Amino acid sequence: MPAIKPLPDLLISQIAAGEVVERPASVLKELLENSLDAGAREVQVQMAEGGVKLIRIADDGCGIAPDDLPLALARHATSKIATLEDLEHVTSFGFRGEALASIAAVAQVALTSRARGAAHAYRIDSASGRVAPAALGGGTVVEVRDLYFNTPARRKFLKSEATEFAHCEEVFRRAALARPDVALQLAHNGRVAARLAASSLTRRVGEILGGEFRDQAREIEAAAGILRLSGYAALPAYSRAARDAQFFFVNGRFVRDKLLAHAVRAAYADILHGSRHPAFVLFLELDPYGVDVNVHPAKIEVRFRDSRGVHQFVFHALQRALAQPGAGRSTSPLPFVTAPSESLNDALLSPRQRPLAMEEPVQAYVAAAARAFGEPLADQLAAPGAPEEAKAPPLGYALAQLHGVYILAQNDAGLVLVDMHAAHERILYEKLKRALAEDAPAVQPLLIPVVFAASSAEMATAAEHEPDLQRMGFDVRPAGPAELAVRAVPALLAGADTAGLVRALLADLATVGDSRAGAEQRNELLATLACHGAVRARRTLTIPEMNALLREMEATERADQCNHGRPTWTQLSLAELDRLFLRGR
Ligand SMILES: Nc1ncnc2c1ncn2[C@@H]1O[C@H](COP(=O)(O)OP(=O)(O)O)[C@@H](O)[C@H]1O
Ligand SMILES: [Mg+2]
Repeated sequence: MPAIKPLPDLLISQIAAGEVVERPASVLKELLENSLDAGAREVQVQMAEGGVKLIRIADDGCGIAPDDLPLALARHATSKIATLEDLEHVTSFGFRGEALASIAAVAQVALTSRARGAAHAYRIDSASGRVAPAALGGGTVVEVRDLYFNTPARRKFLKSEATEFAHCEEVFRRAALARPDVALQLAHNGRVAARLAASSLTRRVGEILGGEFRDQAREIEAAAGILRLSGYAALPAYSRAARDAQFFFVNGRFVRDKLLAHAVRAAYADILHGSRHPAFVLFLELDPYGVDVNVHPAKIEVRFRDSRGVHQFVFHALQRALAQPGAGRSTSPLPFVTAPSESLNDALLSPRQRPLAMEEPVQAYVAAAARAFGEPLADQLAAPGAPEEAKAPPLGYALAQLHGVYILAQNDAGLVLVDMHAAHERILYEKLKRALAEDAPAVQPLLIPVVFAASSAEMATAAEHEPDLQRMGFDVRPAGPAELAVRAVPALLAGADTAGLVRALLADLATVGDSRAGAEQRNELLATLACHGAVRARRTLTIPEMNALLREMEATERADQCNHGRPTWTQLSLAELDRLFLRGR
């Protein structure tokens, strides 16, 4: 074995650079953080060729004294902490004192700075290490050229110019969201990609994520003890196919943290389909002592002292905000409405309503509505239409059913359109969840058992999961070698297509596992039940049945979306209707 030798300084920095300077975007991140740490109010970034050729950042921060310039480029030299005590309470982005040194080890770096009150500016060049007077009005300019010029192996790992710039844009967006009070500009190859004036968080969020996100987002504001959560979380109508609109900041620092990601996921679990991703901009603030930011060289991971407490807090704060029924809120307006069709006219003039097969659940609605709203309202529900003078409830009173799919209702703002199946599905789901939590859900014995032909796999699943089926309120037993008999179902699901329901449930049990396996599995089973139990499209409802459904929606948490995250209703205001008919112009 060769003798042990200390590594040369440059090589140490090049090794460190492997962790800190993964790609141009990591350089940009470090430089932006330095400018923000220096108290900049305005930061301008210019880049060329995806940042590989040039990253130049100019700020109006406190600047660096000429004597400190060589130290700024030296390894383990920082102005931000001096003791371990400082480290535990650090509030600046930087504290490791290695970013500029690492960058200077793999690129040509020039630092020009004019400290506040200094007569003029000085410049240092990483190649020569010499400090010389220079011209600059104030603040600091950092220029990083020819990234990886001396480490060709690294350079090979870089992706296309467009991809590298896209990563830089993402870093820029994070900084922009973290500090809406700072004016920021980004230019690439001479073209301005973003120009953001200093403003409020609300405006910045709209600029970075778009007006559609802002319109569909709930404002979050919650505090408990030393913890505070604020920001915006989008309702499922604005969910994404990718995790491209997820911004979580801990004490202003963008982080990607498993614990926080899990808390968010759990808060959305009931309202978002598994393959969709929520969109959010969230800020968690806590005493710096409660969080260790020195876990990762790029500081993208953190560790909480009380991780359970943080998880619970984030989960509950978010879930509560998302659950609030938003009745009265106008969802995005419909692009157009077709003229009333024949069948709508028919429905308005002569309701030809077949009796509802789901008689019992609907009876239950009317009873529940009576309990929730008192007898007088129950009377109103029974009468078609409603007194003109009385203020309508948020979702209004039912007028008619459209093509057996939508309920049309009138509220104070105008017309409400409800997707009847989606709404009923959500209500059933929430009820089933509550019923199952009680451990003894009300059971409806069937006078005539429902018998259906079952495959050997279905027979096996029914036998294996019998106790589980029992706990959910089902009595499913073999009636022959290839036949299953259903003798009882949960009361909430009486009247549904029993055979179809049990088949779907058995399929779920076979793939997902039983309801004790975990909340996620249980909720998936409930979703299957709710979907099969909910009124099918093309079922005719009577006006009182429709009104009962509307009242149930108002009383149900998360009723704005079905459990696949689709909206259950939308509002068409009178103004929007007037616009369609060019009224009042
Ligand atoms: N834009 C800037 N404005 C003022 N000072 C800066 C700027 N960039 C870097 N510095 C100084 O250089 C030092 C080293 O920066 P860096 O290597 O990023 O380490 P750290 O940020 O961890 O301290 C900082 O502590 C700071 O004093
Ligand atoms: Mg730094």
